[in-house]
Formats: sequence, structure tokens, C-alpha cells
Amino acid sequence: MGKISLTGDRPTGKLHLGHYVGSLMNRLSLQNDKTFDEIYIMIADSQGLTDNFDNPKKVRDNIIQVTLDYLSIGLDPDRVTICVQSALPALTELTFYYMNLVTVPRLERNPTVKNEIQLRGFNDGEGGLPVGFFTYPISQAADITAFDANVVPVGEDQKPMLEQCREIVHKFNTIYGETLVEPQIMLPKDKNATRLKGIDGKEKMSKSLNNAIYLSEPADSLKTKVMSMYTDENHINVSDPGKVEGNVVFNFLDVFSEDRHFDEYLKDYKNLDEMKEHYRKGGLGDVKCKKFLLAILEEKISKFRDERKKWEDNLSDVYDILYEGTKKAKEKTYATCERVKKAMKMDYFADKKIMIDEWRSYIVEKG
Ligand code: TRP
Repeated sequence: MGKISLTGDRPTGKLHLGHYVGSLMNRLSLQNDKTFDEIYIMIADSQGLTDNFDNPKKVRDNIIQVTLDYLSIGLDPDRVTICVQSALPALTELTFYYMNLVTVPRLERNPTVKNEIQLRGFNDGEGGLPVGFFTYPISQAADITAFDANVVPVGEDQKPMLEQCREIVHKFNTIYGETLVEPQIMLPKDKNATRLKGIDGKEKMSKSLNNAIYLSEPADSLKTKVMSMYTDENHINVSDPGKVEGNVVFNFLDVFSEDRHFDEYLKDYKNLDEMKEHYRKGGLGDVKCKKFLLAILEEKISKFRDERKKWEDNLSDVYDILYEGTKKAKEKTYATCERVKKAMKMDYFADKKIMIDEWRSYIVEKG
């Protein structure tokens, strides 16, 4: 079997730089790594509904939004297949079979789900925890295995999902025979840069925390956001020594700056290490650091904006990309589902003899 990759995003909002660092950058490198035979990116609208079932419009509207985000960063529809989850019925069917292989306590132990349940307040008050939301890790295992993916580029927070998926694969293959492909997680390369902080200094960049910089960020609000970034609250005067750890500007510079940027935008230093050293010692002001970061981000995001504009002017092409990608994905996932049912000996209507012969031998066995 060839090298196949699958990832997805819930279409519940615009994608931001946290998504870029956590997973999109790896998808770009997979796209450019010619060793992959198939690369799928799935817009997980069904999963998006598990915590937005009362707002389907939000999910629907964000399908095009997220597709534009993909295209704007340079994901190329000739090399990656972009598809829509809810149009792939095989995924739902697989989910239903996999549900038998997972226990309630095992799902309850999934740290990502645990955390999300708390964030959404599903355990408080009267609402309670929707079964659909609770079981989404199982549906995610269906997503991954349906595409026979052996590589899944995602952020650190998706690790428990991959573990759960691998357990399902093992269990399925043990019971029904070798059928499903075991996926490997692909985490961001640079350990230093696995996670982008929010502009307010919070550990995670997220839309709901209102601390994100979007891939589609306009120039003026990009400037406002960068200039308001959390730095080091004890770094009051330029001459004060400053802290680089926990400082959002340096977290971003760790991720996005390259040596050439110093040559272009900040000739005082040769590289980031030199700049950090000066900041630590004292004598380097926050405004100067922020202006440097802004130049770097503006260079990057302005390219995204230009590319997005091209697609926005041709939305019918965007629609066609989704249509064609989903068609291809439908065939792929259907084939896996057929293979799964065959392994479970549930391909009853593939051949008249299967059911009849099995029944005959069953009667003979029982005497
Ligand atoms: N849970 C992922 C997220 O919230 C989205 C997703 C759905 C996904 N299906 C997937 C990611 C399959 C990787 C593989 O971002």
C-alpha cells in the first residue's frame, strides 16, 4: 500500500495561525514531498455539528471559508483532494461498527474529549452531554481508516484521537482479520514551535478565546493585534532586562523568523539568538520587537490575502474543487467500507451462496 495522508478541520470558523503552525505547515510539506500517493483533506462538517447542532448555518457557511483558507496558503487542489465529510456515508457506517469496539470508560478517559466537555459546559446544568459529541473520537477513527491513511498530520491536541484510533484498528484486525491500516501521527517538526500562544499570552490560540490572528487577517487589524501582544509585564522601560520565555512576540519569532528577515527588516542583529540576548540584557524595547514581527507576518499574510482574492473571484471553481474532491473521496471510503463488511462477513448480497452456504453449514454443525 502506498503512502496516504488524511487530516481534517471542523468548519466552525476561520482558520488561524495556530492551525497553520499546528498542522497546515505539515500539509504543505507533504504536498511538496513527492513520496505521497494520496493526500486527503477533509472538512469535518459532521464532526462540527456535534457541538453546533443548533447552528447548522455556521457549519455550512464555514465550508467555503475553510476551503478558501486552504487555498490561500497554497494547498494545491491538483495535488491534494479536498472533500466534505457529510457527503461520505461510508464514514457513518464505519463509525457504527467501530462503536462496538470502544467502551464508555475508555471514551471518558480521552483527555481531549474530557477537556472539551468541560470547555463547553456539557457537564454542568441541565443540558447534559450529547452522545454524538461524546463519541466523535470513534467517528474520527472512521475518517482516518476509511482513507487507509498511514500518516495523519495534526497538532499535539489530537494525539489522544490517534491513540484511540490505533486501538480500534488493533481490535478490529484482531477480531475480524487484518483489514485496517494503522495510522501514524505526524506532529509539527520544530519542537520549539509546536504551539502558538494567543496574542494575550494564553497557552493556546483559539477563536473562542478571542486571541487569534487569522490566515485572512486584514493589514490594519494585523497591526493592531501585533502591537497589543502580551510581552513581559516587568519589562517597563527599554533599559529593563526582559524575559523571552512566555513572551508572545518571541514565541512568534521562534516560529516565523528566518535569518534573512534580519537582513531585510532589522539589521541590528544577525539572528534571533542575538536579538534575544539583547532583550534579556535590557536595552531592546517591545515596540521595536513588535514592528519586526509585524513586518514578517505582513509579508507572509499578504501572500495569503492575494491568493485568497484570486479564488474569491472564482467561487465557482472553489465549488468544483469540493465537488470533484468529494466524489473521489466517496469512492475511496466506500471501497474501505465494503472491505470492512467483507472482513466481518457481512457482505451478504455480494454472492447468493455466502448466506445460504453459511446457513447450511450452521445447520449441519448444530445437527
Ligand atoms: N478533530 C479535528 C479537529 O478538531 C478534525 C478532524 C476530523 C480530523 N476528522 C479528522 C483530524 C481526521 C484528523 C483526522 O481539528
